[in-house]
Amino acid sequence: MILEFTKENIEFCAKKLKNGDIVSFPTETVYGLGANALNENAVKEIYRLKGRPSINPLIVHIYDINQIDEFCILESFQKEFLEKLKVFWPGPLSLVLPKKNIIPEIVSAGKPSVAIRMPKHEIALSLFKETNLPIAAPSANISGFLSPTTAYHVDEAFKKFDVPVLNGGSCNVGLESTVLSLLKETPIILRHGFITKEKIEKVLGIEIIDGTQNKNTLPKDILSPGMLLKHYSPHTPLYLTSEKLPKSKNAAYISFKNNEGEIQDNLKNKFKTIEFLTSNKETIAKNLFYILHKLDRMNFDYIVIDSCDNEGLGLAIMDRVTRATNK
Ligand code: TXA
Ligand code: MG
Repeated sequence: MILEFTKENIEFCAKKLKNGDIVSFPTETVYGLGANALNENAVKEIYRLKGRPSINPLIVHIYDINQIDEFCILESFQKEFLEKLKVFWPGPLSLVLPKKNIIPEIVSAGKPSVAIRMPKHEIALSLFKETNLPIAAPSANISGFLSPTTAYHVDEAFKKFDVPVLNGGSCNVGLESTVLSLLKETPIILRHGFITKEKIEKVLGIEIIDGTQNKNTLPKDILSPGMLLKHYSPHTPLYLTSEKLPKSKNAAYISFKNNEGEIQDNLKNKFKTIEFLTSNKETIAKNLFYILHKLDRMNFDYIVIDSCDNEGLGLAIMDRVTRATNK
């Protein structure tokens, strides 16, 4: 059930959340599937609807930075980091901090930490404010499949569960938030997103660790279980241009170029459909899941996708692309 952004619908959804039901809402990154983070049964329901492994913790969403004190115990170095990093809030940055007992174990999948995020989206913030609760919310997709960037993506995936979806149109950022662990005195990136390592280092004035590079060497208490799981895949097999491609011509190609004149000769005339995402990384990020959703519904035998460099936002784009091609 898709609901437009009205005062009545915000009140309706807030009431649902307070009653322990599940509601989907837009954020600037992707749509979330939310529940009252303090209600164990409601959170359990999120795992069930998504088919999410119970080892993968959820992000707790807030609307006011002062809520952090209710849910986390911060040491002085963590307070200093937060003071600087709050320039990114509201925005696409989730911070992993030591949790208080009020956050149930099911939210943090048994970890002593919790990821906190304040999204930059009027609908999400109005909803949270109306509930006055912390909202646990993963991306609103069936576990392992493409993240949703429109209300229709969510409605399609969760129709049979009758989940209300607040409609905020297309998400501006289009890729999930950056996840940054502040548990140790050197912060560690656990998931790349729109807020890049360079931007964080500039604000903190120190070098931080890219934990996605050597996942297996990260201490277990820091590691993000989501880093190790298969993710973001369309139902249609997805290939990189560098891979050996199947013979069929019933295929689609997602190009990171501006037009046909710029695509490689060996790829021309090979596909029924070509989608051009343009070479601007912000535009690629914003449209990546949208295009994958669209092509995934068109019954192609396979889809091929370009790569971009690993600079800045390129790291987040290629993280999602390579995980989606993981057949
Ligand atoms: O942009 C986003 O972050 C979206 C919107 C809805 O806010 N949410 C989202 O949630 O992407 P989800 O559940 O799909 O991804 C959360 C990631 C997972 O990789 C999870 O393992 C990691 O955050 N995570 C959550 N809590 C953690 C913790 N305490 N320690 C380490 N990693 C954690
Ligand atoms: Mg997700």
